[in-house]
Amino acid sequence: METVPAAEWDVASWQAREALQQPDYPDAAALESVLRQLSVLPPLVTSWEVNALKLQLAEAAHGKRFLLQGGDCAESFDECRADVITRKLKILLQMSLVLVYGLKTRIIRVGRFAGQYAKPRSDPFETRDGTTLHAYRGDIINGPAFTPEARTPDPQRMLQAFSSSALTLNFVRALSEGGFADLHHPEYWDLDFVRHSPLAGEYHDIVGAIKDAITFMESVTDAPLDELERAQFFTSHEALHLPYEQALTRSVPHQPRVYNLATHFPWLGVRTTHVDGAHVEYARGLANPLGLKVGPDATETWLKEMLDLLDPHQEPGRLTLITRFGAAHIERSLPPLIEAVLASGRTLLWTCDPMHGNTEVTESGLKTRRFENILGELELAFDVHAAEGSHLGGVHFELTGEDVTECTGGARGLDDADLERAYKSHVDPRLNAEQALEMALSIVRKCQRMGA
Ligand code: PEP
Ligand code: CO
Repeated sequence: METVPAAEWDVASWQAREALQQPDYPDAAALESVLRQLSVLPPLVTSWEVNALKLQLAEAAHGKRFLLQGGDCAESFDECRADVITRKLKILLQMSLVLVYGLKTRIIRVGRFAGQYAKPRSDPFETRDGTTLHAYRGDIINGPAFTPEARTPDPQRMLQAFSSSALTLNFVRALSEGGFADLHHPEYWDLDFVRHSPLAGEYHDIVGAIKDAITFMESVTDAPLDELERAQFFTSHEALHLPYEQALTRSVPHQPRVYNLATHFPWLGVRTTHVDGAHVEYARGLANPLGLKVGPDATETWLKEMLDLLDPHQEPGRLTLITRFGAAHIERSLPPLIEAVLASGRTLLWTCDPMHGNTEVTESGLKTRRFENILGELELAFDVHAAEGSHLGGVHFELTGEDVTECTGGARGLDDADLERAYKSHVDPRLNAEQALEMALSIVRKCQRMGA
C-alpha cells in the first residue's frame, strides 16, 4: 500500500522539531555548501532494492524468513579497507549459513555498514585531566583523538562518510555478484580462526551437510540452483545525523513517497524516539522500511503512538521492532509490548538486539559485554515471544570479522584481563568473529530445543 504521509510532512519538516544528538558546526556556510554537494550526488541504493527488502521483511514478520542484522557499532574511515570489509562479509555469511541450516528458513542479511558513521552519546562532552572537549560522535562528525582539532565537528567529514559508504557498498556488491558468496563454495569464507577453533567441527559439519544437500538437489533437478550463487546483502545505519539523511532523501519517479537512498534500512536509536522529536518526524515520511529500537523505558502508550506515526497504514514490512532491554529486564519489559502490538491487530517483525542492554564497565574502566548475558537475553527473547503467541523473527548484533577482545566469554573463555589485548572499538564492544559464529550456533541449538 503506497500512501502519501500526512499533508504537513516534507523532507525538511523535522527542522521545526527538537533534534537531539546533532553536532554544532562552527561554520554554517561550510555546512550549507557540503549539504548542497551531497544533495546532487548519485544515491547509494535504489528504490527497487529498498522495496525488495521491505517485501522480505514482511515475509520475516510472518515467519517465512529470519533477519540477521550485524556489523560494527560505528564504522571508521580507517577501516574502509578490502580486508576488513571482506572479513565482515565472511562472518555474516558463515552465520547465515548456520542459521539457514538450523532454522530451515531463508535469511535476510543486513549489514550495519556502508553508512554507520554517526553515534548518539549520553554525554555531549568528555573531560580528561581537567580538559573538556566535544564527545566523539562518529567519523561523520568528528575524530576520536582527544584534541580540540579532531573533536570539532567538521562538515567535510560528511563527504568522506558518503565516499567511504560508496566504496564499501561497491565492494560488497562486487563480491556478492562475483561469486564470493556462492553457496557451492563456503570454503571461500573460511576465516583463519575457524581452523583452530573449538567450534570448527560443528561448523564444518554444517557446511558439509549443506554442500551435500545442494549436490543432491542439483542432481535431482538437473540444473544448478542459481539463487544459491549470490547471497544478497542489504545495508542499514542509524538515521541520526538528520542534515546528512535529508540530503540523501530523494523523490523517485512514479513513487508517491520519498526514499532515503543512503541506505536500505534506516533505524531510529533509543535516544531519538520521542514522539514529538525531529527523528520521528523525519522518518515517518520515508518509503523505506524502518527499524525502531525499543529499550527498557518503552511504555505501551509510547509504542502505540509510534506505530500510528510510523506505520499508519499497516504496511507489510514497514516496521521492525528491535528490542534491547538487557538480560535482566526483558522478561518484565517485553510481554506488555507484545500484548499491545497483538491487540492492535498488526503483524510486525520483532527482532532482538542483545548487545545494547548488556553493556557494563570493567574495573579497569573498559566497556564490555558478557557472552552469557548476550545469549541469555536472546534465549529469553525466543521464550517470551513463544509464551506470548508471537515469534522472534531476527537478531541484531554488534560484531566484527576481526580477532578483537571486546566482549568476554564464549568458547575461548575470554575474561576481563584478555580485554586489554585487542580492544579496538572507539564506541561499543563487539563480538569477535569466533564469538559471532558461536552465537549463530547457539541460536540454532536454542531453536532446536524449542522444536522450531
Ligand atoms: C547502536 O545500535 O549502536 C545504538 C546506539 O543502539 P541504541 O539506540 O539501542 O542504544
Ligand atoms: Co552500539
